This record gives sequence, C-alpha cells and structure tokens, in this order.
Amino acid sequence: MRRNKRRQRTLRNVLLCSLGVLTIVLTIFVGKFLINLQKAQNPSDAGRSDSITDAWKENNGSAVPTAPTKEATKIPEPTQVPLLPVEYAAEYTHLTNAAETTYYQNRIAVGIRYPEYENGKKLEKCMEFAEAFMQRRLNSYKNLKDLDGVFVIDYEDGAVESLTSVLFHFTQTVKGKTETEDLLWVYNDKAEEEVASDSLFADRAYIDIAKLLAEQNGMEAVSGTRDAFSLYRFTEEGVHFYYSSGESKAEITVPYIQLHTYMNVTTNGLYVKDMIRDLDPDKPMIALTFDDGPTGVENRTMRVLKALEENDSRATFFILGSVAERAKTELLQALGNSGNELASHTYSHDDRTLKNFTVEELTKEIEDTRRIIYEGTGKYPTFIRPPYGAYNDMVKANSYAPLITWNVDSDDWKLRDRDAVYAHVLEEAKDGRIILMHDIHEFTVEAAELLIPELVSRGFQLVTIRELFYYKGVELENGKVYHSAFN
Ligand code: NI
Repeated sequence: MRRNKRRQRTLRNVLLCSLGVLTIVLTIFVGKFLINLQKAQNPSDAGRSDSITDAWKENNGSAVPTAPTKEATKIPEPTQVPLLPVEYAAEYTHLTNAAETTYYQNRIAVGIRYPEYENGKKLEKCMEFAEAFMQRRLNSYKNLKDLDGVFVIDYEDGAVESLTSVLFHFTQTVKGKTETEDLLWVYNDKAEEEVASDSLFADRAYIDIAKLLAEQNGMEAVSGTRDAFSLYRFTEEGVHFYYSSGESKAEITVPYIQLHTYMNVTTNGLYVKDMIRDLDPDKPMIALTFDDGPTGVENRTMRVLKALEENDSRATFFILGSVAERAKTELLQALGNSGNELASHTYSHDDRTLKNFTVEELTKEIEDTRRIIYEGTGKYPTFIRPPYGAYNDMVKANSYAPLITWNVDSDDWKLRDRDAVYAHVLEEAKDGRIILMHDIHEFTVEAAELLIPELVSRGFQLVTIRELFYYKGVELENGKVYHSAFN
C-alpha cells in the first residue's frame, strides 16, 4: 500500500507537472499567434520596405533582391509581371560601373539602374534623383494594387572635365502599353554640387544651336528654345543635344569651343586642347596682347604674326568687330591659322564705353563681333576685352566670357615712339603679366619686332592668355575680370 500510495503520488506529480508544461507551451503559442496577428495588421512593422530607398539599401549591389517580406508572401504571385530579372529599357553607355536595384510589390516590378560613383556624395545625389523620378512615376497611379506593370530606369552618361551628365531613361509597361520619359541629371565635381540642367546654358546658346542644327540637317524651322534642347549629354567632342519640338526630333553634337562662353560652369578643359602648347611651367611667361586690329596697312598685323612665328611665340589678338568686317579675307584667314588666340574687343569701340550701353546694345556688340570673327577666321573668340578696360556689373553679367584687361600698358598710344615703347615694355616685363599693345600703329609694330626676340632671349615664354592661365593654374570664369595671372 505504501508503495502504491507512493506510486500514486508520483503519478499525480507527473500529471501536474505535465499540465504545467502544457500550460506554458499553450501560453507561448497563443502569445505568438496574437503577435503575428498584430503584425499582419500593421505591415509597416513587419520589416517590409516602405520606399525605394529602403529597398535600394537592402538590395544594393545584389542581383537578387533580398527584401523579404511578409507583405510579399501575402500577395499572390504576379501573373503578368516577370519575376527576375527586370528587363531594362535598352543598352546604354555606362562610363562608370553600373549597379542596379530591383524590387517587387503587389503586381509591380520596379528596377533602377544607376551609375556607381566612388564619390559618396555624388552617388547619393544621383541615386536620390533617380529614386525621386521613379517615385513620381509610381505616384501618378492612384491605385497601384491591381496594376500589372514593369517600371524601369536605365541611363546613359557622359563627362567632360568636372562636369558629369546622366540621362535617365524611364520606361513603363502597364497592361501591355509602353510609355517612356527622359530626365537629365548634371553634377559639377569641382563644386561638389548638382547643376540645374536647364540653367547650364544662357538663352543665347539655344539660338546658336538651333541655327547649327538647321544648317546641318537642312531643317527649315528649328525652335531655339531651352525646352527644345532640354536633354543633352557631354561627350569628348562636345555637348550632344537631343532636339525635340512637337513631332520634330534630331540630334547634334556642338563642340565646346562654340558653347563655352554660354556656359555657367566654365572649366579650362572645355577648350580645345590644341590651344595649349607644351611649355615649361617653371620658366616665366608673358602674354602680349594686341588690340583694335587687325589692319592691312603697311602689313602691320601680318608683321606681328611673322615676328611671333619666327620666335616660336604666341600672343592674343583682341579684334574689333567693326574693323574685322572691313579686313581682307587673307588677313583674317592668316590670323585664324596662326595658332595665336583670337578674342573679342567688341564691335564699335564706342566712347560711351560698354558701361553705358543697354543690355541689348551690349549683346549686339558681342554677338556681331563673335559672328564676324568666326566667319572671317573660322575661330570663335574666346575672351572679351572691354574697350578702355571699362566695365561694371551689367557688363560682367551679360558678357558670357571671362573679361581680360591688362596690368602693363605699353603706353604706345601716348609715347608714339618705337624706342620708348620698347624700353617701357622691357622694364615692365615680369612673369604672369598681361601687356597691352596696339598692332594698328607703325611704331608699336616696329617695337614688337624688336621686343619679341629680346624677351625670348631673356628667358620669357610668350604665350596666349589661355596658356598663361592654364599654366598658372587659374580657372577662368565667365563674367569675372582678370588683369594678370596673379590678378
Ligand atoms: Ni581698344
């Protein structure tokens, strides 16, 4: 009995114990069930991605999306939307490594391909832009739930010097219908900031580009507006524009040399490289500049060109539009082929000075001269020297070129004597200086014929304005005034 009693007690204890364990197990089970129920009701807590950014971060770099999700398992398998991989719009130029991110939600497949920049800030800005683009497209649908759709962004990029362009191509296919849209992103590496793609060029640039496009393609009406040329890409040869106006579409590459004075971001490298000779950066440099010409009288301009060539030297000619208009074709062509730098001294040299012009008058002065110089020499003028060195904020804001004055005046107009000009310039000759002379005077040309070999024999390299600033490491900006390499 005792034994029996003990056995009964043991049995009861075992039963009680089991009951306890069972209770605990049940409690846990019910608890878990309740928690899951709650999670299902609040999907945002269930670890699903709320935005493309989240999905991006989760999927970044991996071909198969890892984004996991209760949400995904709740949704029936998409029937018309392909699972993996998302098909991108086309094959585009990817200068840097391309990365992509994909994710699926409801019956929508979303994929973004983007450039992978090493610079973290640049990468982030670029991704934000692409993501916002995608988000905007998705937001255009009120109800995404029952949409069978594929939304993809691919891109085509380009770069020149410190500027990067990324042309994002968006394609969506919803219920068998395909739509596309393009959007441009521009970044300035040097300033480490985004550039509004529609503000990179001045209004006047579009009129020029339209003209070129019409000439090239034999088109009658080309709209010279910002909107018509809103998409472009930087290439080695120039800016490649995608023209679109109504039904009319065309493409054109415009060399940087034709655009740089219209650009709000200027970089030395945007100019053709052959404008910079291979020079010794440690030897002193001087930029001789000749204003108010060219002239055929007594072959003066040609004699300066000859003296420069014979001494392996170059200079910059600030040409007057009104004078070049009357100059002989051969003279203008000789200037254009000489390798010297051609710049603008504006059209009229009016005594009122540019400061007292209206914006329209100033623009006309600059535009006319630009056209005349180009038509005569085949070269676009690179800089502007305001007559009398007179400028103000209005002139700076509307010139669309670096304004180059001088810090040594040869005083030729005052001295009017070969030997006096010669002696004065030699005395003032120092590294980095810009010297003002006029190739229209006989005594100046005679002085130059002596000065050029003399300066070279004293160890100076006679250079163009472009070369001077390039070798002194000064970035020339439109609308800024420069008196010398050291200002
Ligand atoms: Ni002048």
